[in-house]
Amino acid sequence: MDWLNLEPYGRPVQHDRQPETHVSSTVLVTGATGKTGRRLIPKLLRRGIAVRAGSRAPVRSGAEPVRFDWFDESTYQPALQGADALYLVSPHLADNVVDAFAQIQKFLHSAADAGVRRLVHLSSFGVDQAPADDPLRRVELLVDESAIPATILRPAAFMQNFSENHWSNLARTIRERGEVAMPFGDHPVSYVSTADMADVAAVALAEDGHEGRGYTLTGPAAITLIEAAELISAATGRHIRYVDPGPGAVRQALLDSGAQADFAEYVSQIFEFAITSGVMTAVTGDVAAVTGREPTGFAEFATDAVGAWLP
Ligand SMILES: NC(=O)c1ccc[n+]([C@@H]2O[C@H](COP(=O)([O-])OP(=O)(O)OC[C@H]3O[C@@H](n4cnc5c(N)ncnc54)[C@H](OP(=O)(O)O)[C@@H]3O)[C@@H](O)[C@H]2O)c1
Repeated sequence: MDWLNLEPYGRPVQHDRQPETHVSSTVLVTGATGKTGRRLIPKLLRRGIAVRAGSRAPVRSGAEPVRFDWFDESTYQPALQGADALYLVSPHLADNVVDAFAQIQKFLHSAADAGVRRLVHLSSFGVDQAPADDPLRRVELLVDESAIPATILRPAAFMQNFSENHWSNLARTIRERGEVAMPFGDHPVSYVSTADMADVAAVALAEDGHEGRGYTLTGPAAITLIEAAELISAATGRHIRYVDPGPGAVRQALLDSGAQADFAEYVSQIFEFAITSGVMTAVTGDVAAVTGREPTGFAEFATDAVGAWLP
């Protein structure tokens, strides 16, 4: 996996397509119940943009809840009704899906037909450097080639993996055992807050000038899991210790959460490479460049998220 060679980090990707002027009036937010989607919704509503909140079990969120399932094509058109912009959270690495290319391709056609004129796609750190046959890179290329002007977000690992629903079960092991139990604890990672990602997505959906660009989103500094445990200890007033469960723990955690073997293999390989190679120590200025303010640090995140770790 030597493709993950990010130089220069975070440089916006420019495409040949001419920028289009478009004022979004209604955004379909997919992954509306997830770590970025549900933070994006109120930010769009505050800007006076209507939101259709798409998820498999629609929930009230101040926006119009709509049923949307990547694997049920009959939900595509109804969910897209009236939408002229789209926040696209693909089901990659969610619910054991490694390759959702066919679904995303069909959905993008439906979106263009439905009148969507702007799109923000949530991808992952370093995917622009991946070979063209990598499942995540194939989706980026599909988005690039679609008829809809797009912005691609490439975040580092999320801070909220420590405090919210995630295959790593970090929130539960911190709360119940006082342990951050993940391998490779002495390798720094530039974790990013999903609140900052939602801010970037809101700007890119609501304002002109972000079409054809890619943003690599990181926090302000790279920290190790050992340091994360110390910062969570300081926020909670509890002693949270780092525990190294060994390199096979990522694969096992995925299998324990019900993952299929090929999914567990793919994710654990990416995880190990991204963390141990050091590429995830990169810190970019893209959050500040888009939002005009510095990204959230881990200590601030931990103070806000403290309720997730109290027994
Ligand atoms: N977590 C990270 O550190 C990280 C880092 C970089 C990139 N990413 C990328 O960010 C994306 C989100 O990752 P996440 O794991 O943190 O999840 P998340 O956004 O917190 O939650 C996943 C969302 O996807 C929705 N979803 C799952 N399966 C679906 C389906 N079949 N049809 C429609 N909606 C579906 C879920 O909604 P319902 O269950 O309510 O339907 C939920 O809202 C992924 O593409 C991942 O590759 C994550």
